[in-house]
Amino acid sequence: MIVLDGKIASAAVKEEIKQQTAKLLASGKRAPHLAAVLVGNNGASETYVASKVKNCEEVGIRSTLIRLDADVQEAVLLDTIASLNADAGVDGILVQLPLPKQISEQKVIEAIDPLKDVDGFHPGSAGKLVQGLPTFIPATPYGIMLMLEHFNIETTGKHAVVIGRSNIVGRPMSILLSSNLKRGNCTVTLCHSHTPNLTELCLQADIIVAALGRPEFVKAEMVKDGAVIIDVGITRVEDATAKKGFRIKGDVAYAEVAGKASAITPVPGGVGLMTIAGLLKNTLQAYVSREQL
Ligand SMILES: NC(=O)c1ccc[n+]([C@@H]2O[C@H](COP(=O)([O-])OP(=O)(O)OC[C@H]3O[C@@H](n4cnc5c(N)ncnc54)[C@H](OP(=O)(O)O)[C@@H]3O)[C@@H](O)[C@H]2O)c1
Repeated sequence: MIVLDGKIASAAVKEEIKQQTAKLLASGKRAPHLAAVLVGNNGASETYVASKVKNCEEVGIRSTLIRLDADVQEAVLLDTIASLNADAGVDGILVQLPLPKQISEQKVIEAIDPLKDVDGFHPGSAGKLVQGLPTFIPATPYGIMLMLEHFNIETTGKHAVVIGRSNIVGRPMSILLSSNLKRGNCTVTLCHSHTPNLTELCLQADIIVAALGRPEFVKAEMVKDGAVIIDVGITRVEDATAKKGFRIKGDVAYAEVAGKASAITPVPGGVGLMTIAGLLKNTLQAYVSREQL
């Protein structure tokens, strides 16, 4: 059984990016620049954004963090995005989700210039992904594809079951795995909360991507011997014995499933780290396209 270690795979991707940015700087060019917008002070969002900013620094990508109050008006956020769109020195824009209730996430997603849409959530980016055109791939599915590549996981001809159909993880993941790509060419079954025979489908899967946000949902009895298990779930579960008062749980019951799997991602230390790698790749790509390099 192989542990698909996100530390190892993301370090390799980051090293590649670091070398590319170092070359750019050495040739007198500016560094790629990511602008991150954080609204309010949700604990998990703070952690994710801090990690994105830190990782940018590590690979030579400049980052700017813009903080807005939790009660900010939607119009103010849209104005902020408009200025970032117009700023020639900004290559990528990300607005950390979720947003407070007074703000329409869809409006915000659609306000970002598709050429700076490094989260890949704009409907234009999603449409291009469906049609197999070059675009920004949402960071989590992109990170998973990079992980499959790093560990040389064969996907062609396999049956992949993706659990969860969100626009940020499950649906784009199902599209990528079914696309005619080196790490695609799967026959994909996309499951959601109305799928009645989930266990039966999972038992047929060579690859399971669990992205539903239900801690330890995928049990050993749902997994075929030798399956590849990708656990996207991140749920904070209260635990008084933990230093922070909670523990991070994935969507897979790791201890029991690992005994049956041929490869499995840990949580933490798996897909989460690859998500950041995907974002960094997208930011560099945005820079390269805008500078026409
Ligand atoms: N590792 C990372 O970097 C990363 C990045 C993003 C998200 N995540 C984590 O990944 C998980 C999913 O995130 P998300 O944003 O995609 O969540 P989401 O928007 O809440 O979507 C969850 C999906 O799972 C489906 N679902 C829920 N319960 C189910 C059940 N019992 N059986 C089958 N399907 C079920 C839902 O079906 P319906 O559509 O029918 O409601 C929905 O499609 C969360 O734990 C999130 O924190 C991790």
